[in-house]
Amino acid sequence: MSLIIRIHRTGGPEVLQLDDAVVGDPGPGQVKLRHTAVGLNFIDTYHRTGHYPVPLPSGLGLEAAAVVSAIGPGVEGLHVGQRVAYATGPLGAYAEERLIPAERLVPVPQGVTDRQAAAVLLKGLTAQYLVRRTHVVKAGETVVVHAAAGGVGLLLCQWLRHLGATVIGSVGTAEKAELARANGCQYPLVLDASNPGRFVQQVGEITQGAKASVVYDSVGKDTMLMSLDCLAPFGLLAMFGSSSGAPPPLDLGLLGPKGSLFVTRPTLMTYAAKRTDLLQGAAELFDLVARGVLKVHINQEYPLRAAAQAHRDLEGRRTTGSSVFLVG
Ligand SMILES: NC(=O)c1ccc[n+]([C@@H]2O[C@H](COP(=O)([O-])OP(=O)(O)OC[C@H]3O[C@@H](n4cnc5c(N)ncnc54)[C@H](OP(=O)(O)O)[C@@H]3O)[C@@H](O)[C@H]2O)c1
Repeated sequence: MSLIIRIHRTGGPEVLQLDDAVVGDPGPGQVKLRHTAVGLNFIDTYHRTGHYPVPLPSGLGLEAAAVVSAIGPGVEGLHVGQRVAYATGPLGAYAEERLIPAERLVPVPQGVTDRQAAAVLLKGLTAQYLVRRTHVVKAGETVVVHAAAGGVGLLLCQWLRHLGATVIGSVGTAEKAELARANGCQYPLVLDASNPGRFVQQVGEITQGAKASVVYDSVGKDTMLMSLDCLAPFGLLAMFGSSSGAPPPLDLGLLGPKGSLFVTRPTLMTYAAKRTDLLQGAAELFDLVARGVLKVHINQEYPLRAAAQAHRDLEGRRTTGSSVFLVG
């Protein structure tokens, strides 16, 4: 028997239930994993609440680092004992053991620990596609990052600085502002959601009226309209999350007068759907981590049984950087 966290109904953190499971042998194309560290992501809360509906009962979690413990028929290129990680599910990472399609796995290189891999793969692959594919960020650009001290946020700030961009960030507290600043965000601004005009004004002052070429917005409801006002003509709003709630429907008519703006709603699932893209993104990410260009800030650690507390902390804006569940 091994431990698994499941939801049998949607709701608050209290619906996260500790179950015992028997994990069988891997079928064709599958491997069996013994997890060592499991990543906590904001999307886990959307699955738990039903904001993103999933068939019930369901496991939770899309990301983990693990050791391969058995290999199913037809799987090539993996061996028992190998260190691997994944970040695109299927759901069920909150568990000591699981079966998974081999095609979802990436090898973890020597210079990256299991904890780092579980803390960085999903968030770092997201940062990778946002700065290298959704928009190819160039040195000298000015970019706005919301939730700059969060999991994806700290990685985005570091990666953008590495590319030579000027980073303006929004954060919830002065302490988070200092953390963002220490990670490449030159202008961390404490955002007052009740006064979005103030943030737009600050972006205008910092850029001497030029504004930003891209806004990476994962906050959603509280920030979307304000984000449009932070953009220079032809600028791009990459609306990649909704931590404050789903944003209102967007009136396309706003985009013309604000400067012929572009808007996209990207997801990692699309950007990592092709295995070649997944492997290339992971290789680029792990290389930057192993070389110390990207620091992985694991600022919260929990046992799996404390999953409900972990969700409360994440939704309550009490976390910074990455959070992991340690297993075994
Ligand atoms: N589309 C994709 O491919 C993709 C992939 C990964 C993640 N995401 C999205 O990116 C976002 C960040 O994910 P993460 O796991 O790294 O989480 P996170 O940023 O560490 O946590 C969310 C942060 O959002 C900010 N926030 C602002 N208003 C909030 C509110 N009303 N309630 C809760 N948080 C609020 C908080 O920072 P402050 O207190 O500093 O404001 C909070 O710490 C999420 O929206 C997630 O869904 C999208």
